[in-house]
Amino acid sequence: MCGIVGYIGKKQAAPILLDGLKKLEYRGYDSAGIALITPAGNIDIAKAKGKLDVLVEMTDGGKKIKGTCGIGHTRWATHGEPSENNAHPHCNDEKTIAAVHNGIIENYAELKEKLVRRGYEFYSQTDTEVATKLVDYYYKKYGEPLRAISEFALHVRGSYALAVMFKDCPDTIFAIRKDSPMIVGVAGGDSFIASDVPAILKYTKSVYYVDNLQIARLEKGGVTFFNLDREEVSKEIVEITWDAEAAEKGGYEHFMLKEIHEQPKVVKDTLNCVCHNGELDFSEVGLSDEDFTKINGITIVGCGSAYHVGVVMQYVTEDLARVPVRVEIASEFRYRNPVLNGELVIAISQSGETADTLAAVKAAKENGLKTLAIVNVVGSSIAREADYVFYTKAGPEISVATTKAYSAQLVAGYAFAIKLAYLRGKIDKNCYAELLKQLFALPDKIEVLLNSKEQIQKFAAKTMDKKDVFFIGRGADYAVSIEGSLKLKEISYIHSEAYAAGELKHGTISLIEDGTLVLGILTQKDLAEKTLSNLFETSTRGAIIAGIASESVKLPATGLDFVFRIPDVDEHFAPSLAVIPLQFFAYYLSVLRGNDVDKPRNLAKSVTVE
Ligand code: F6R
Repeated sequence: MCGIVGYIGKKQAAPILLDGLKKLEYRGYDSAGIALITPAGNIDIAKAKGKLDVLVEMTDGGKKIKGTCGIGHTRWATHGEPSENNAHPHCNDEKTIAAVHNGIIENYAELKEKLVRRGYEFYSQTDTEVATKLVDYYYKKYGEPLRAISEFALHVRGSYALAVMFKDCPDTIFAIRKDSPMIVGVAGGDSFIASDVPAILKYTKSVYYVDNLQIARLEKGGVTFFNLDREEVSKEIVEITWDAEAAEKGGYEHFMLKEIHEQPKVVKDTLNCVCHNGELDFSEVGLSDEDFTKINGITIVGCGSAYHVGVVMQYVTEDLARVPVRVEIASEFRYRNPVLNGELVIAISQSGETADTLAAVKAAKENGLKTLAIVNVVGSSIAREADYVFYTKAGPEISVATTKAYSAQLVAGYAFAIKLAYLRGKIDKNCYAELLKQLFALPDKIEVLLNSKEQIQKFAAKTMDKKDVFFIGRGADYAVSIEGSLKLKEISYIHSEAYAAGELKHGTISLIEDGTLVLGILTQKDLAEKTLSNLFETSTRGAIIAGIASESVKLPATGLDFVFRIPDVDEHFAPSLAVIPLQFFAYYLSVLRGNDVDKPRNLAKSVTVE
């Protein structure tokens, strides 16, 4: 949800800013801009509507704007349509202050009114122009940048990561954040700010995670942090373990394709975090065996695909551990005033910054509940908020549509469920060992599926003109259907719905007509027969039907228009295999339809606004 980058150092800033923004484009891509302090000491701004390439071309790769201190922004519009006028950076009338912002200033209308009364004029529809002019107001009042920024923080409501440059302080960037991510990187006297690690990974792996309401002052040679009282605070540098190649395409046509292919590795790496010498060990997560035995109920929260992982986890955990599990969309949980009875709240999030999931964790804590975060990004807000953290090892996920993070979250969930089941005495030692064996067999089985992708590619080519696609399944097959359906609509822009197979005939079947595509997920042996019947009910009404089925699931010799087989595995873990062809299906349809696979329209990777 918007990407911010900043640089101050010995080199020319503009190419570094544009390069950083390229890595952050997944966060927003409807307009972009940069501001630099020029050698003459003025603020120079370049911005353009559209993807970053427009700005790159306009500035000749940054060569047209000189200066060694600058800030940049790639936008996902919240207030005001995508346009050059609304693009960041914004500045005051004298062009002595420029700012970029990620997040939402909730009381911007009220602040704008007050500023208008004080003679300010506004030229854009953005809350960021209000933020910039508010900083300007306090700077003019107190004559001191730090004071201006802390006053800004005291007067705004909402979420923000804000980076500001003042003409009066030519070699300095000031930054502050609240509930929107921001890191500061350092390397040999050069300093960087960014919304996310990949933007600066090429230059440094040494970063500071800026805390809520902390101010960073970046100067040539160093960074200083302050609290809102403008007292200096000390912070620890964190070394990032990802390498720069992890955030590159590595020869693949799209990040999504690369990330699909990384799934065997990320699944293995994630499992290895909690499995040592053939035993599940959650001590790194912070959960002792005793903590597990105290769990009598679980609420899982997440958004989008992370919520879908929660749905799988609900089936698996209830079945294996016999503990009641509720799974809820984080944005509903946070406002629903739920009845909470001492359960563990598990928040699932790749970015660790999703505003609603973060708010759900906070709400759970306010109710005195313990929280476990299953999160990919180290040091992210949700990770820092939760009592226990299970870091998935997916590495940087750049494509907006999640694939490898979803798979890593799934196995984190399975491992949790197995451990809980064992410690609660619901499975014996043999079953525990067998489940672990099956879990560790997943990476090789995913590899087999990666090698069969051409079958899906051909099927996608035959179905690329479909207007509606339905996914159906029962149990864990339903849980994976909702993910397949989301993936499809997200990047192919084909309308799609996922239905619990038994629910279709309670209304939705009226939408089935000649040529509608219905995909059945068939991995749960006891349920597959029923889903098959539901598939055939649609084919008799004109649908084209396809089955994604485990090897040992019996299928009729005729009737299905397309069948894709997946290796057998313990049924609890079948979603990890069934999702692979569904990811490929969405991917190839998106490519065939000429869409921007990694940056689908209207979306952004990290949803830091409600
Ligand atoms: C879909 C997708 C989104 C995210 C959702 C939550 O492909 O990526 O639905 O799963 O926005 O994001 P995180 O996991 O970062 O909280």
